[in-house]
Amino acid sequence: MARHLLSLWDFSGKELAAMIEEGLALKKEAAAGVRHQDLAGRTIGMIFEKPSTRTRVSFEAAMYGLGGQVIYLSSRDTQLARNEPLKDMARVMSRYVDGIVVRTFGQEIVEELARYSSVPVINALTDLHHPCQILSDIMTVIETRGDIAGRRIAWVGDGNNMANSWIEAAARLGFRLTLACPEGYDPAPEILARAKAEAGERITLLRDPKEAVREADVINVDVWASMGQEDEAEKRLAVFAPYQLNAELLEAAENDPVVLHCLPAHRGEEITDEVLEGPQCAAWDQAENKLHIHKAILRRFIA
Ligand code: CP
Ligand code: NVA
Repeated sequence: MARHLLSLWDFSGKELAAMIEEGLALKKEAAAGVRHQDLAGRTIGMIFEKPSTRTRVSFEAAMYGLGGQVIYLSSRDTQLARNEPLKDMARVMSRYVDGIVVRTFGQEIVEELARYSSVPVINALTDLHHPCQILSDIMTVIETRGDIAGRRIAWVGDGNNMANSWIEAAARLGFRLTLACPEGYDPAPEILARAKAEAGERITLLRDPKEAVREADVINVDVWASMGQEDEAEKRLAVFAPYQLNAELLEAAENDPVVLHCLPAHRGEEITDEVLEGPQCAAWDQAENKLHIHKAILRRFIA
């Protein structure tokens, strides 16, 4: 049976650490001009029902960089748009390609595809999770601050897909995660409860962003309205205003933390231009790391 990457929860800390290590090694090899052909003759299908710059381009570049090929399918390109059942799509795609990378809405969509697919299904973002992104983010933490175990990571803003995947990573990789979310915008309660049962005191949910960043080594922010929440964007502007990562909030952090943003950023909303363009921000290395971690993921799941 194929192994899928649907959420970080499906992996042990050791497996996650191995993928991150491989991403770091592949980055060094890329800088040294090493070329790989591990996936020559392999093809992945990429079903994207939401827009993407980084995830799409880095998965495609990673697959080509390993000697493989990609078939990209936007939501209007497949019969899913005309209600072909997911289970039919999964079984047919499995006959053509060696793996399926999916960006979509409900987590149940990737789960249904995985149930019926005989090739690996990789979650490239759902409303509930963004697992591949968090692996590249942790690569960036290791590059800038060393070993992830014992680090203090802050999440400021919406308890969204990114926050949920960070919570799962914290349970498995031994770092401290402090989230500050406005009331009504907490991470998924079942994910938080399950992770806290594993990690105990290491994961904390607060309301006060200053308290969350005070001892942080890393501060993470993301958009206030995720893809699919466009109708709520205006209401969210008011709710999230106290959670903006600006010079004042950064001042409240005592350890000169690294600032991470998975991008795309909305300057003047969740982060100011000054902080995004400032010396503490590693968002551009973080974006690059998606390429290397996607190579590591493709090698592990597709090869
Ligand atoms: N960070 C990220 O997933 O960006 P895209 O939406 O551009 O893929
Ligand atoms: N939370 C954001 C992440 C984008 C990469 C969204 O889902 O739109």
